[in-house]
Amino acid sequence: MITLTVHIYLLSIPTVQEGEPLVFGHLGWRDTVLIVDLEGSSMVPSDASEVFDEITEMDSTALFKPKVVSLVVTNSESGGPNIMTASWFMLAGYDPFRYLLSVSQRTYTYELIEENPEFVLAAPSGEMIDALSLAGTVSGRDVDKIDHLGLETVPGKDVDVPLLANAIGNVECSVMDSFEFENCTYYFGSVENAYVTSGGLDGRILSLEEDILAYMGSNWGDADADEKYRYHADLEPDDLRRFPDSKVHETLPEEVRETDE
Ligand SMILES: Cc1cc2nc3c(=O)[nH]c(=O)nc-3n(C[C@H](O)[C@H](O)[C@H](O)COP(=O)(O)O)c2cc1C
Repeated sequence: MITLTVHIYLLSIPTVQEGEPLVFGHLGWRDTVLIVDLEGSSMVPSDASEVFDEITEMDSTALFKPKVVSLVVTNSESGGPNIMTASWFMLAGYDPFRYLLSVSQRTYTYELIEENPEFVLAAPSGEMIDALSLAGTVSGRDVDKIDHLGLETVPGKDVDVPLLANAIGNVECSVMDSFEFENCTYYFGSVENAYVTSGGLDGRILSLEEDILAYMGSNWGDADADEKYRYHADLEPDDLRRFPDSKVHETLPEEVRETDE
């Protein structure tokens, strides 16, 4: 449904009298509001602003949440183990499976990965909300974050980096490649081993019985906010829905339908 405001200039019918000029009396401008139902109508919006509210670049990041952000664990002989909160990571290939992680060159994590090119991506549980905040705002150069937060660790199997014992799961990665862009280094971490808490997977899906930390973002950048808040969504088992692909594929012509899953 869309609302259009139309400006109509109303004219009176001219009156003509002999010997007098033609005169148009006018009633003036009037705004008329039309409600147009786009469904079933051929009218296409000509501008995004008719359909959406425009948002800032920063607010565009809200569109791709919830996201399970990661606690990135690193370790080096001279530096010791450290954790850093990271949301800039993604799956970046599956032969071998690898994750691409962006690390600011200002972080201690960067120094540690440069010394020992391995890292662990830990998926935090809801009870690790303080770890997400602290590991994302304080540097391991200043505080031993693992010790301060009282986090339990387990030795990695194929990486010399510990796993976080209270996480939902951990992924051991060894750096197979990297590139620099602006002030970040992007590491491709090949998956060595991956773990989930016992019963944490429901088939291929993370079980919503687990206390997943589904991060929704923060009020960072709000000019009038005197305190910073972070938000997470509480996902319950009943929130999971299944949607079979087959239904929508049946709407396609037979020759373009996917036959193999
Ligand atoms: C939600 C969130 C996500 C973040 N994502 C990243 C990220 O992907 N890469 C990065 O370099 N820093 C990221 N940061 C910032 C680092 O966590 C932060 O600079 C941290 O203090 C670095 O710790 P370190 O110096 O001990 O390595 C993020 C912070 C928060 C709160």
